[in-house]
Amino acid sequence: MRSGEEKFYVDPATLEPLTLEHAVRDGDEIVSGVLVAASGHRFEIANGVPNFVYPFELPQADRDALRETEARVEGYDRYLPLTFSTYGEDEQAVRNAMIDKLVLKPGMIVLETGAGTGRDSELIAQRLGSDGKLYIQDIAPSFLAKNIERMRGAEPQVEPALTNGYYLPFPDNSFDACYHFGGINAFSDIKRGFAEMARVTKPGGKVVVGDEAMPPWLRDTEFARVLINSNPEFAYQIPLDKLPIEARKTRIEWIVGGVFYVIDFLVGEGEPQADLDFPIPGVRGGTHRTRYYGQLEGVTPETKRLAYEARAKTDKSMHQWLDDVVREAAKRDLGKQD
Ligand SMILES: C[S@@+](CC[C@H](N)C(=O)[O-])C[C@H]1O[C@@H](n2cnc3c(N)ncnc32)[C@H](O)[C@@H]1O
Repeated sequence: MRSGEEKFYVDPATLEPLTLEHAVRDGDEIVSGVLVAASGHRFEIANGVPNFVYPFELPQADRDALRETEARVEGYDRYLPLTFSTYGEDEQAVRNAMIDKLVLKPGMIVLETGAGTGRDSELIAQRLGSDGKLYIQDIAPSFLAKNIERMRGAEPQVEPALTNGYYLPFPDNSFDACYHFGGINAFSDIKRGFAEMARVTKPGGKVVVGDEAMPPWLRDTEFARVLINSNPEFAYQIPLDKLPIEARKTRIEWIVGGVFYVIDFLVGEGEPQADLDFPIPGVRGGTHRTRYYGQLEGVTPETKRLAYEARAKTDKSMHQWLDDVVREAAKRDLGKQD
């Protein structure tokens, strides 16, 4: 961990700033120490890598996934190309096409979560140049160690950390772009995972996330049954209902033989905006807002029929007629003048 980085990171649970204690340095590097938050949470730095994994006691599902991941580390880089070649796909071309969606420029600050052994990290790094910064994160120590090894000598500054992808140790709006491929299906809180990526990405920045999911329209085919039998991860559903409300211009592409999704979106602020107040032309009238917020108790069918008949004798919309009638009656009963 480079000196000064301790000021960038925050407590992933409370987002409070951290204080570095017991630091052992080697030149510009903080080799070991502990980052302490006012909450009392303590995050150790060992061999230059801070450990922000939170909750400190992970849910059982995450612990199971982590154990299975760690068991695969030795064969991971040897066998992973099969994931692509099975479908006649070129891994580098697929990964570069996903990274294209980040619209990276030299000098950007980028976060990659679930970065694994760094098969995408090195491609992302190539695009950031010497002024860029790449934060590589994973929950599995053995995978992150391989990534650090791969990224040694990379041009942009590379900052590794152990983290849980759904509790990120950064303040809001920290990154120009955020990338994740291949691990989010295993997060025990996928919705929080997406929300965290949106939170730490600057408004207008890109988030790109991909993982396995058999497309819904193929689930009942031999193709799907055979593949899901071998790799149950294909049974995951594309998590569209778990995207953050800040997602804008959201796109989905089915890649790697059509059995992985990649979702990309621009990070917006809050809910989407729309003009809810323009007068809607036509007999019904009103605005989107008056139609939603202006509803009163119901009337009898006979009163409703009379109201429609009376409105038709005027040049008002139904909204305007009702608004006038109800306002007049209310003022009369309240004894109010204009
Ligand atoms: C299939 S590997 C993909 C690695 C890499 N992105 C790639 O494309 O080769 C999934 C990665 O996600 C990581 N992962 C799983 N759950 C995670 C979590 N909750 N937080 C962070 N990383 C996680 C795993 O440790 C593993 O490195």
